[in-house]
Amino acid sequence: MIDITRPIACITGMGSAVPEGRLTNAELEKTLDTTDEWITDRTGIRCRHIARPDESMLSYTLKAAHQAMEQAGVTAADLDGIVFATVTPDRRLPSVACDLQAALGAKPAWAFDLVAACPGWVYALSVAEGMMATGLGETILVVGAEKLSMITDRDDRNTAILFGDGAGAGVLRRVRPGEDRGILATYLGADGDLADLLYIPGGGAADPFTEEVLRERRHYMKMAGREVFKAAVLAMSRSSDEAIRRAGMPPESIDLLVPHQANLRIIEAAAKHAGIPMSKVFCNLDRYGNTSSASIPLALTQAQAEGVLKPGMIVMLAAFGAGFTWGSVVLRW
Ligand code: UT7
Repeated sequence: MIDITRPIACITGMGSAVPEGRLTNAELEKTLDTTDEWITDRTGIRCRHIARPDESMLSYTLKAAHQAMEQAGVTAADLDGIVFATVTPDRRLPSVACDLQAALGAKPAWAFDLVAACPGWVYALSVAEGMMATGLGETILVVGAEKLSMITDRDDRNTAILFGDGAGAGVLRRVRPGEDRGILATYLGADGDLADLLYIPGGGAADPFTEEVLRERRHYMKMAGREVFKAAVLAMSRSSDEAIRRAGMPPESIDLLVPHQANLRIIEAAAKHAGIPMSKVFCNLDRYGNTSSASIPLALTQAQAEGVLKPGMIVMLAAFGAGFTWGSVVLRW
C-alpha cells in the first residue's frame, strides 16, 4: 500500500430523494406468501419506496443532487466531475451520469457510471477521492441511485420484500489548508467466485433479451438469501476491521457507523464484530428497505437531518453486495 497524506477530500453537502410510491409489508402480504411479522423479524424492513414504471431514476436523483449542491454551496459550474454508482441506469447507453450532467447543466464536467452493486457509493467515494488526488477535480458529485423495482421479481418473496428505490448524493471537495475533516481511510474488496449468489442471468450481452428471457423471468435478480447473508456478515466484518486498522484508531473512536441498509440482523452482527454498540449505528432500512448504492448516502442525509450526524464526528461507512463486493470508509465529518 502506498502512503498518502490524508485528508485530501471531504464531503460538504448531502442530499437524498425517493419516489413517492410506497410499498408496505401489509401490501406485500396481499400478493405474496409472507407476513408483516416475518419480514419485520427477519429483516427489520417495514416499508420501501417504489417508482412508477414510467418514472425515471434521473427524476428523483436530480432532487438529491440539487439538495447536496445547495448544502455544499456549489453550483453546476463548480462541478469538475460526476461519479454515478448504479446497477439500474435509465438506459444502457450513454451513462446516466451524462444525463445527470446535462440535466444539471454541469458541462464540461467529466461523468461516468460505476457498477459495484450495494457498496457502489463507497466505491464511488473512493474513486472520486483518487481522482482528486491525481488532479482530476476539486469538486466532484458522488451519486448512488437505483430503481431496483425494475429488476425485482414481485412474485419472488425472497427478494421482493427487501428492495426499494431511491437516490443519494454527496459533494466531495478538496480539503482546504487548516481544515480538520475528510476521508481518513478507505478499503475496497471483491470476490468474483461468489457472483452467482446474487445476479441477473439474462438480458446482458451473453444472454441477450428474447421472449424466452422474459417468459422465464431471467431479467430479474436471483438471490441465494441464506448464503448472501453469511457472506455479507463476513464481508462487513472484514471491511470494518480493515477500515479501522487503516485509520489507525481503536473501534471506540468510531462515533457513528452508517452501514449498508440490507438487513438489521446483518447490521447487528457486523456492529457486534466491530465492537460498536447499536446506539452508535444509524439505521433507516425500516422505511426504505435495501436501496443498494443509494442506501448509505440516503442514511447519511437522514442522519444529518435528524441531528445524529454532527461535525467533527468520526464516521465509518461499511457495505457489501453482489459481485461479491465490499468496502468501507472512515472519515471525520
Ligand atoms: O445487498 C445485498 C442484498 N441481499 C441481502 O442482503 C440478503 C441477505 N439475506 C437475507 O437478508 C435473508 O437471508 C433473507 C431475508 C432473504 C431470508 O431470511 P432467512 O432468515 O435467511 O430465511 P431463510 O432463507 O433461511 O428461510 C427460512 C424460512 C424458510 O422456510 P422453511 O424452509 O424453514 O420452512 C423459507 O422458505 O423462511 C421462509 N421464507 C419466508 N417466509 C415468509 C423465506 N422468505 C420468506 C418470506 N416470508 N418472505
